[in-house]
Amino acid sequence: MNIFNTKLELKAFLAEQKEARKSIGFVPTMGALHEGHLSLVKRAKKKNDLAVVSIFVNPTQFDNSEDLKKYPQTLENDKQLLESVGCDVLFVPTVKEIYDNNINSEKFDFDGLEHEMEGKFREGHFDGVGTIVKAFLEIIMPDVAYFGKKDFQQLQIVKKLVEKYNIPVEIKGRPIFREDDGLAMSSRNARLTKEHREVAPFIYKTLKKAKKKFGAKNIEELTKWVKKQFKKKPLLELEYFTIADEKTLKTPENIESSKSCRAFIAVFAGDIRLIDNIGLK
Ligand code: PAF
Repeated sequence: MNIFNTKLELKAFLAEQKEARKSIGFVPTMGALHEGHLSLVKRAKKKNDLAVVSIFVNPTQFDNSEDLKKYPQTLENDKQLLESVGCDVLFVPTVKEIYDNNINSEKFDFDGLEHEMEGKFREGHFDGVGTIVKAFLEIIMPDVAYFGKKDFQQLQIVKKLVEKYNIPVEIKGRPIFREDDGLAMSSRNARLTKEHREVAPFIYKTLKKAKKKFGAKNIEELTKWVKKQFKKKPLLELEYFTIADEKTLKTPENIESSKSCRAFIAVFAGDIRLIDNIGLK
């Protein structure tokens, strides 16, 4: 695996590969890799000549400085994992390399997608994501970039970014990876206390039950039902449960008016914020 820390070296290497007509599949990450990330890398490798991964804990997408400070960093282990799945190129820039001395995000208009769900609770988050994803796509110029559906809103926003800025790349969303007990894989899971880790699978269990009830109960009733379930679990604090159309990310007037919708959830387990979602129809 080739490892680069500077844009210049990475670009020079990739220019040679492109000249040799090699296709590039890109997986952006913030490190602390788990099976979900590795599945994206395997997919990138399977569908392209080269799999390129970035590891960069992007400061501008954190609305909470404690979360940024405590974000797990496991670079040596990450490198081994990437080697084991045949990653070709790893890009690990410093904050200075990416932002120089201006650690600020660009301001984006994602046609309102940025104001829904996560956007209501994490100020500036999607400006930070937009800034870094746009920067990486411009540096790497991949043929395809892969994103997990756990961050479904992020996936839709990246699709919008690419459309608005005419960036010539195909954005692919891939399935959520789960632990055996159903908890969606996340780098933040490593920071859960034993008690919070034990109760965290309740999030997906509740989503699955909500899916079963969907149709029999209307959106308002279902939301009330979910809130009631979380009242019974003092270790988990529900931030939001929303049913939204996959394209607009807005709650449909009624279930029939949306072609495909999803239930989205954000929950605090202590000071760790966990998100998840499930397709309803
Ligand atoms: O999903 C993530 O890990 C990050 O938001 C991303 C896409 C790597 C941008 O920093």
